[in-house]
Amino acid sequence: MKRLAAVAVALLLCGCEGMQSSLDPAGDQAGAIRGVFDLMMWVCGFMYLLVVGFLAWALWRGRGRESFEPEATAHDRKLEGALAVWAGIIVVGLTVLITASFFVDRSLASTRNDPNALAVKVTAYQWWWRVEYHDGSTDQWFETANEIRLPAGRTARIQLASNDVIHSFWIPNLSGKIDLIPGRTNWIDITPRREGPYRGQCAEFCGFQHAHMALDVTVVSPAEFEAWRRRQLYEARKPTTPEQAMGKAIFENKPCAMCHRIDGAEAAGRTGPNLTHVASRRTIAAGTLPYSRGALAGWIADPQALKPGARMPAVPLTPQESNALLAYLDSLK
Ligand code: CUA
Repeated sequence: MKRLAAVAVALLLCGCEGMQSSLDPAGDQAGAIRGVFDLMMWVCGFMYLLVVGFLAWALWRGRGRESFEPEATAHDRKLEGALAVWAGIIVVGLTVLITASFFVDRSLASTRNDPNALAVKVTAYQWWWRVEYHDGSTDQWFETANEIRLPAGRTARIQLASNDVIHSFWIPNLSGKIDLIPGRTNWIDITPRREGPYRGQCAEFCGFQHAHMALDVTVVSPAEFEAWRRRQLYEARKPTTPEQAMGKAIFENKPCAMCHRIDGAEAAGRTGPNLTHVASRRTIAAGTLPYSRGALAGWIADPQALKPGARMPAVPLTPQESNALLAYLDSLK
Protein backbone atom coordinates (compact mmCIF):
# COMPACT_ATOMS: atom_id res chain seq x y z
CA MET A 1 0.00 0.00 0.00
CA LYS A 2 2.82 2.36 1.01
CA ARG A 3 4.70 1.55 -2.17
CA LEU A 4 1.55 2.14 -4.23
CA ALA A 5 1.10 5.55 -2.63
CA ALA A 6 4.74 6.44 -3.32
CA VAL A 7 4.34 5.44 -6.96
CA ALA A 8 1.13 7.50 -7.25
CA VAL A 9 2.83 10.58 -5.80
CA ALA A 10 5.87 10.10 -8.05
CA LEU A 11 3.61 9.80 -11.11
CA LEU A 12 1.70 12.93 -10.11
CA LEU A 13 4.93 14.90 -9.72
CA CYS A 14 6.37 13.56 -13.00
CA GLY A 15 3.23 14.74 -14.74
CA CYS A 16 4.10 18.33 -13.81
CA GLU A 17 7.34 18.37 -15.78
CA GLY A 18 7.91 18.23 -19.47
CA MET A 19 7.91 20.16 -22.70
CA GLN A 20 4.18 20.85 -22.62
CA SER A 21 3.34 21.69 -19.03
CA SER A 22 2.13 24.91 -17.49
CA LEU A 23 3.41 23.61 -14.14
CA ASP A 24 6.98 23.63 -15.40
CA PRO A 25 7.42 27.29 -16.34
CA ALA A 26 10.35 28.30 -18.53
CA GLY A 27 9.47 31.96 -18.85
CA ASP A 28 8.24 35.00 -16.91
CA GLN A 29 4.59 34.81 -17.94
CA ALA A 30 4.22 31.09 -17.27
CA GLY A 31 6.02 31.65 -13.95
CA ALA A 32 3.44 34.26 -12.91
CA ILE A 33 0.61 31.89 -13.82
CA ARG A 34 2.29 29.11 -11.86
CA GLY A 35 2.41 31.47 -8.87
CA VAL A 36 -1.37 31.94 -8.98
CA PHE A 37 -1.82 28.20 -9.36
CA ASP A 38 0.30 27.51 -6.27
CA LEU A 39 -1.58 30.12 -4.25
CA MET A 40 -4.92 28.56 -5.26
CA MET A 41 -3.65 25.13 -4.29
CA TRP A 42 -2.55 26.33 -0.86
CA VAL A 43 -5.70 28.34 -0.10
CA CYS A 44 -8.09 25.68 -1.42
CA GLY A 45 -6.08 22.88 0.21
CA PHE A 46 -6.26 24.67 3.57
CA MET A 47 -10.03 25.18 3.23
CA TYR A 48 -10.50 21.57 2.21
CA LEU A 49 -8.62 20.32 5.25
CA LEU A 50 -10.70 22.59 7.51
CA VAL A 51 -13.98 21.29 6.04
CA VAL A 52 -12.94 17.65 6.28
CA GLY A 53 -11.61 18.23 9.80
CA PHE A 54 -14.86 19.76 11.03
CA LEU A 55 -16.90 17.08 9.32
CA ALA A 56 -14.91 14.38 11.09
CA TRP A 57 -15.23 16.21 14.39
CA ALA A 58 -19.03 16.57 13.95
CA LEU A 59 -19.41 12.89 13.10
CA TRP A 60 -17.32 11.90 16.10
CA ARG A 61 -19.31 14.11 18.45
CA GLY A 62 -22.65 12.97 17.09
CA ARG A 63 -21.92 9.26 17.33
CA GLY A 64 -24.51 7.29 19.20
CA ARG A 65 -26.94 10.22 19.27
CA GLU A 66 -30.37 9.20 18.08
CA SER A 67 -32.11 12.41 17.04
CA PHE A 68 -31.17 15.71 15.48
CA GLU A 69 -33.04 17.72 18.11
CA PRO A 70 -31.43 21.09 18.68
CA GLU A 71 -29.49 21.38 21.90
CA ALA A 72 -29.46 24.18 24.43
CA THR A 73 -29.52 27.81 23.21
CA ALA A 74 -26.15 28.59 24.81
CA HIS A 75 -24.66 26.07 22.40
CA ASP A 76 -26.47 27.78 19.49
CA ARG A 77 -24.86 31.08 20.33
CA LYS A 78 -21.44 29.45 20.37
CA LEU A 79 -22.24 27.96 16.99
CA GLU A 80 -23.21 31.36 15.59
CA GLY A 81 -19.84 32.75 16.65
CA ALA A 82 -18.05 29.86 14.98
CA LEU A 83 -20.05 30.39 11.79
CA ALA A 84 -19.08 34.07 11.71
CA VAL A 85 -15.39 33.12 12.01
CA TRP A 86 -15.88 30.54 9.27
CA ALA A 87 -17.49 33.11 6.93
CA GLY A 88 -14.61 35.47 7.71
CA ILE A 89 -12.04 32.85 6.68
CA ILE A 90 -13.91 32.29 3.41
CA VAL A 91 -14.09 36.00 2.62
CA VAL A 92 -10.37 36.46 3.30
CA GLY A 93 -9.45 33.39 1.23
CA LEU A 94 -11.56 34.45 -1.74
CA THR A 95 -10.29 38.02 -1.57
CA VAL A 96 -6.68 36.81 -1.66
CA LEU A 97 -7.43 34.61 -4.68
CA ILE A 98 -9.37 37.28 -6.59
CA THR A 99 -6.73 39.94 -5.95
CA ALA A 100 -3.83 37.72 -6.99
CA SER A 101 -5.64 36.49 -10.08
CA PHE A 102 -6.66 40.05 -11.07
CA PHE A 103 -3.17 41.52 -10.80
CA VAL A 104 -1.42 38.64 -12.56
CA ASP A 105 -4.02 38.75 -15.34
CA ARG A 106 -3.56 42.51 -15.75
CA SER A 107 0.22 42.22 -15.78
CA LEU A 108 0.03 39.57 -18.51
CA ALA A 109 -2.45 41.58 -20.57
CA SER A 110 -0.58 44.86 -20.37
CA THR A 111 1.97 45.18 -23.12
CA ARG A 112 5.43 45.94 -21.90
CA ASN A 113 6.38 48.08 -24.88
CA ASP A 114 9.89 46.75 -24.70
CA PRO A 115 11.72 48.53 -27.55
CA ASN A 116 14.13 45.61 -27.76
CA ALA A 117 11.35 43.04 -28.16
CA LEU A 118 11.59 40.49 -30.95
CA ALA A 119 8.72 41.06 -33.39
CA VAL A 120 7.05 37.85 -34.48
CA LYS A 121 3.78 37.39 -36.31
CA VAL A 122 1.90 34.12 -36.07
CA THR A 123 -1.04 33.40 -38.36
CA ALA A 124 -3.20 30.35 -37.76
CA TYR A 125 -4.59 28.29 -40.60
CA GLN A 126 -6.59 25.07 -40.65
CA TRP A 127 -4.33 23.32 -39.51
CA TRP A 128 -0.91 24.85 -39.31
CA TRP A 129 0.94 28.00 -38.21
CA ARG A 130 2.63 30.61 -40.38
CA VAL A 131 5.44 32.21 -38.39
CA GLU A 132 6.96 35.47 -39.62
CA TYR A 133 9.91 37.21 -38.00
CA HIS A 134 9.50 40.94 -38.47
CA ASP A 135 12.63 42.00 -36.69
CA GLY A 136 14.74 44.88 -37.95
CA SER A 137 14.48 46.22 -41.50
CA THR A 138 12.33 44.37 -44.03
CA ASP A 139 15.35 42.73 -45.68
CA GLN A 140 15.90 40.97 -42.35
CA TRP A 141 12.41 39.48 -42.30
CA PHE A 142 11.84 35.83 -42.94
CA GLU A 143 9.16 33.24 -42.64
CA THR A 144 8.88 29.70 -41.41
CA ALA A 145 6.06 27.35 -40.46
CA ASN A 146 5.02 25.34 -37.41
CA GLU A 147 8.21 26.20 -35.54
CA ILE A 148 9.21 29.13 -33.36
CA ARG A 149 12.68 29.79 -32.12
CA LEU A 150 13.17 32.34 -29.38
CA PRO A 151 16.29 33.68 -27.70
CA ALA A 152 16.36 33.19 -23.92
CA GLY A 153 16.13 36.37 -21.90
CA ARG A 154 14.60 38.53 -24.63
CA THR A 155 10.90 39.33 -24.77
CA ALA A 156 9.16 38.28 -27.96
CA ARG A 157 6.18 40.39 -28.89
CA ILE A 158 3.94 38.08 -30.86
CA GLN A 159 1.22 39.41 -33.11
CA LEU A 160 -1.57 36.91 -33.66
CA ALA A 161 -4.01 36.61 -36.53
CA SER A 162 -6.19 33.92 -38.05
CA ASN A 163 -6.81 33.11 -41.68
CA ASP A 164 -10.06 31.19 -41.22
CA VAL A 165 -11.64 30.23 -37.90
CA ILE A 166 -10.83 30.92 -34.24
CA HIS A 167 -7.70 29.15 -33.02
CA SER A 168 -5.85 29.49 -29.73
CA PHE A 169 -2.13 29.97 -29.28
CA TRP A 170 -0.77 28.12 -26.30
CA ILE A 171 2.78 27.26 -25.28
CA PRO A 172 2.12 26.07 -21.71
CA ASN A 173 5.75 26.31 -20.53
CA LEU A 174 5.98 29.92 -21.67
CA SER A 175 2.63 31.62 -21.26
CA GLY A 176 -1.15 31.38 -21.08
CA LYS A 177 -3.58 30.95 -23.95
CA ILE A 178 -4.69 33.64 -26.34
CA ASP A 179 -7.15 33.33 -29.21
CA LEU A 180 -6.40 34.05 -32.85
CA ILE A 181 -9.57 35.59 -34.23
CA PRO A 182 -10.36 36.26 -37.91
CA GLY A 183 -10.43 39.98 -38.64
CA ARG A 184 -8.76 40.93 -35.39
CA THR A 185 -5.21 41.24 -34.14
CA ASN A 186 -4.18 40.05 -30.70
CA TRP A 187 -0.80 40.38 -29.02
CA ILE A 188 1.06 38.35 -26.48
CA ASP A 189 4.43 38.94 -24.85
CA ILE A 190 6.62 35.96 -24.08
CA THR A 191 9.84 36.22 -22.12
CA PRO A 192 11.54 32.82 -22.18
CA ARG A 193 14.22 32.16 -19.57
CA ARG A 194 15.16 28.50 -19.82
CA GLU A 195 16.59 26.99 -22.98
CA GLY A 196 15.03 23.84 -24.32
CA PRO A 197 12.45 22.36 -26.64
CA TYR A 198 8.81 23.02 -25.87
CA ARG A 199 5.56 22.15 -27.52
CA GLY A 200 2.80 24.55 -28.38
CA GLN A 201 -0.68 23.39 -29.26
CA CYS A 202 -3.79 24.98 -30.70
CA ALA A 203 -6.14 25.15 -27.73
CA GLU A 204 -9.43 26.02 -29.39
CA PHE A 205 -11.35 23.42 -31.35
CA CYS A 206 -10.94 24.58 -34.95
CA GLY A 207 -12.07 21.63 -37.02
CA PHE A 208 -11.22 18.08 -37.89
CA GLN A 209 -7.45 18.30 -37.42
CA HIS A 210 -7.41 20.61 -34.39
CA ALA A 211 -5.35 18.07 -32.45
CA HIS A 212 -2.73 17.99 -35.24
CA MET A 213 -2.02 21.67 -34.94
CA ALA A 214 1.14 21.77 -32.88
CA LEU A 215 4.04 24.18 -32.75
CA ASP A 216 7.63 23.15 -32.32
CA VAL A 217 9.08 25.73 -29.93
CA THR A 218 12.78 26.02 -29.10
CA VAL A 219 14.34 28.46 -26.70
CA VAL A 220 18.03 28.90 -27.46
CA SER A 221 20.86 31.17 -26.38
CA PRO A 222 20.97 34.59 -28.08
CA ALA A 223 24.07 33.54 -30.06
CA GLU A 224 22.42 30.36 -31.28
CA PHE A 225 19.33 32.31 -32.19
CA GLU A 226 21.37 34.77 -34.21
CA ALA A 227 23.05 31.92 -36.10
CA TRP A 228 19.67 30.34 -36.86
CA ARG A 229 18.24 33.70 -37.93
CA ARG A 230 21.08 34.21 -40.39
CA ARG A 231 20.58 30.75 -41.88
CA GLN A 232 16.87 31.44 -42.30
CA LEU A 233 17.65 34.59 -44.26
CA TYR A 234 19.41 32.59 -46.98
CA GLU A 235 17.52 31.53 -50.04
CA ALA A 236 16.89 27.83 -50.47
CA ARG A 237 19.92 25.75 -51.40
CA LYS A 238 20.52 25.32 -55.09
CA PRO A 239 20.25 21.74 -56.39
CA THR A 240 23.63 20.01 -56.41
CA THR A 241 22.66 16.82 -58.25
CA PRO A 242 20.69 16.22 -61.46
CA GLU A 243 18.03 14.46 -59.39
CA GLN A 244 17.61 17.47 -57.10
CA ALA A 245 17.45 19.75 -60.16
CA MET A 246 14.70 17.56 -61.58
CA GLY A 247 12.91 17.70 -58.23
CA LYS A 248 13.07 21.48 -58.24
CA ALA A 249 11.59 21.59 -61.73
CA ILE A 250 8.80 19.25 -60.66
CA PHE A 251 8.04 21.43 -57.66
CA GLU A 252 7.90 24.51 -59.86
CA ASN A 253 5.77 22.97 -62.60
CA LYS A 254 3.37 20.80 -60.64
CA PRO A 255 0.67 22.32 -58.42
CA CYS A 256 3.14 22.40 -55.43
CA ALA A 257 4.28 25.91 -56.34
CA MET A 258 0.73 27.25 -56.33
CA CYS A 259 0.44 26.78 -52.56
CA HIS A 260 4.01 26.76 -51.25
CA ARG A 261 6.79 29.25 -51.36
CA ILE A 262 10.47 28.44 -51.72
CA ASP A 263 12.72 31.49 -51.76
CA GLY A 264 15.12 31.04 -54.63
CA ALA A 265 12.76 28.85 -56.68
CA GLU A 266 9.87 29.69 -58.96
CA ALA A 267 7.41 29.05 -56.18
CA ALA A 268 5.58 31.83 -54.41
CA GLY A 269 2.34 30.26 -53.16
CA ARG A 270 0.89 31.64 -49.92
CA THR A 271 -1.78 29.07 -49.16
CA GLY A 272 0.51 26.57 -47.46
CA PRO A 273 3.70 26.64 -45.43
CA ASN A 274 6.89 28.25 -46.72
CA LEU A 275 9.26 25.38 -47.50
CA THR A 276 12.51 27.31 -48.01
CA HIS A 277 14.22 25.42 -45.17
CA VAL A 278 11.78 22.56 -44.72
CA ALA A 279 14.47 19.94 -44.20
CA SER A 280 15.80 21.82 -41.17
CA ARG A 281 12.51 21.44 -39.31
CA ARG A 282 11.90 18.81 -36.70
CA THR A 283 8.35 17.98 -37.72
CA ILE A 284 6.08 18.17 -40.73
CA ALA A 285 2.35 18.83 -41.08
CA ALA A 286 2.23 20.91 -37.88
CA GLY A 287 3.72 18.36 -35.55
CA THR A 288 1.88 15.40 -37.09
CA LEU A 289 5.08 13.52 -37.98
CA PRO A 290 8.75 13.87 -37.03
CA TYR A 291 10.70 15.10 -40.03
CA SER A 292 12.40 12.47 -42.16
CA ARG A 293 12.61 11.87 -45.86
CA GLY A 294 10.36 8.84 -45.43
CA ALA A 295 7.74 10.80 -43.51
CA LEU A 296 7.83 13.48 -46.18
CA ALA A 297 7.37 10.82 -48.87
CA GLY A 298 4.30 9.43 -47.11
CA TRP A 299 2.89 12.89 -46.54
CA ILE A 300 3.27 13.96 -50.18
CA ALA A 301 1.95 10.64 -51.51
CA ASP A 302 -1.22 10.70 -49.43
CA PRO A 303 -1.79 13.64 -47.09
CA GLN A 304 -5.38 12.59 -46.44
CA ALA A 305 -4.29 9.25 -45.04
CA LEU A 306 -2.03 10.92 -42.46
CA LYS A 307 -4.13 13.97 -41.69
CA PRO A 308 -7.69 13.49 -42.96
CA GLY A 309 -9.29 16.77 -43.92
CA ALA A 310 -5.97 18.56 -44.41
CA ARG A 311 -6.13 21.18 -47.16
CA MET A 312 -3.21 19.60 -49.00
CA PRO A 313 -4.25 17.49 -51.99
CA ALA A 314 -2.30 14.51 -53.26
CA VAL A 315 -0.40 15.39 -56.42
CA PRO A 316 -0.09 12.39 -58.75
CA LEU A 317 3.60 11.63 -59.33
CA THR A 318 5.48 8.76 -60.91
CA PRO A 319 7.91 6.98 -58.56
CA GLN A 320 10.79 8.65 -60.39
CA GLU A 321 9.23 12.11 -60.01
CA SER A 322 8.47 11.42 -56.38
CA ASN A 323 12.08 10.42 -55.66
CA ALA A 324 13.43 13.49 -57.41
CA LEU A 325 11.04 15.79 -55.55
CA LEU A 326 12.03 14.22 -52.24
CA ALA A 327 15.73 14.52 -53.07
CA TYR A 328 15.21 18.24 -53.67
CA LEU A 329 13.04 18.94 -50.63
CA ASP A 330 15.30 16.91 -48.36
CA SER A 331 18.23 19.10 -49.46
CA LEU A 332 16.50 22.28 -48.24
CA LYS A 333 18.24 22.48 -44.89
CU1 CUA B 1 -6.43 25.50 -34.56
CU2 CUA B 1 -7.52 24.14 -32.95
